[in-house]
Amino acid sequence: MYVSTRLRAALEAATEDRIVYDLPGIEEQYDTLRRELPGVDVRFAMKACPLDEVLTTLARRGAGFDAASPHEITQALATGVPPGRIHYGNTIKSDRNIAEAHRLGVRDYATDSVEDVLALAALAPGARVFCRLATDGEGALWGLSHKFGCSPGDALRVLETARDTGLTPAGLSVHVGSQQMTAEAWRAALERMADVVAALARRGIHLDHVNLGGGLPALGYRDRYGRPLEPPLDKIFAVIREGMRRLRSASPTPLDFVIEPGRYLVADHGAVRAHVSRLSARGRGAGERRHWLYLSCGKFNGLYEMDALQYALVFPTHPDGDRVPAVVAGPTCDSDDAYSHELSPVRVPRAAASGDPVWVLSSGAYATSYTTQGFNGFSPLPCTWVRGGPDGPTGSGPEPEGVR
Ligand SMILES: Cc1ncc(COP(=O)(O)O)c(C=O)c1O
Repeated sequence: MYVSTRLRAALEAATEDRIVYDLPGIEEQYDTLRRELPGVDVRFAMKACPLDEVLTTLARRGAGFDAASPHEITQALATGVPPGRIHYGNTIKSDRNIAEAHRLGVRDYATDSVEDVLALAALAPGARVFCRLATDGEGALWGLSHKFGCSPGDALRVLETARDTGLTPAGLSVHVGSQQMTAEAWRAALERMADVVAALARRGIHLDHVNLGGGLPALGYRDRYGRPLEPPLDKIFAVIREGMRRLRSASPTPLDFVIEPGRYLVADHGAVRAHVSRLSARGRGAGERRHWLYLSCGKFNGLYEMDALQYALVFPTHPDGDRVPAVVAGPTCDSDDAYSHELSPVRVPRAAASGDPVWVLSSGAYATSYTTQGFNGFSPLPCTWVRGGPDGPTGSGPEPEGVR
């Protein structure tokens, strides 16, 4: 169970629903990543948590940003990072998006098609082009394998077009799929990139960067059946380091690396404070009777990913006592708003009553961004954050938390 003393204190103090972020925890996570992958620059994938306080915390630590739209670029610039630390990582860009990103000073662009490169050449002179290679998404909870990326053959054409239209063919990128659970996925992606780097060099194209993408896993999730996910993080880092060595030896010129984690940096350092809407039992015929635990937070106001995984739930007012198996669901009048697997109910306190607090742990990734604007009248949760506290570097008492 992933909850720092700081986060726990903030959850205990909360009397209303909210999302809480542990900013020092996010800093420590960033520092761990930098230690595991020395020399690799971090471009935080903003979509995972576009909260100004989180972005500014990471920017101060030295991170840049992976932005997917001019709006995200503007938000990234507001943290004070120079445009050179912002990567336009979305391969899908309209002419207007490109012109606006260029006007804002961004020079690094991901792409995966000749059409997009021609638009960059017309609207973003001086652009540095990163071609995204397709991956199969195997081993990830979210594969991201169809919408993005091209074959090695197309990558050669894309980067040759970049060169021939006066742009800089700067790099390759990949995304091995979000919450990637296998080191093998990185091994395969890095090997593929090494082959393409060598093929490009034979055509006189010498890249200066490789973007390792997102996909690093959070540690605190359970799968749809409630089994703890145990990603082999040490092995993943070792495989990435080895792949980087291989890539460097495949390239006749020096290669630098960036990585675009989203989930890994924030998931385990954010939690939702929700409450019990109702614990009820219903029969649906043929002798079947089931408990359902409806929470105040679900798929449409913070837990969008609840159909693919389960979060660890804490019932702080029911530390012990009788438990019953229940299907967990959100508060809306929509049947998708539930943990997907009715066959693997969660054990919840039999005495859970409407209004009791519930902590949804490791829910810091994508919770603030994947939320509707009040579907069925359930508003997005307010976001709060803790800066210091018992786990903090000074060991002093909690500073006041912020609310947005
Ligand atoms: C281009 C790009 N980079 C990085 C990420 C972050 O992925 P993750 O949260 O799995 O690290 C995403 C997520 O979809 C993405 O599209």
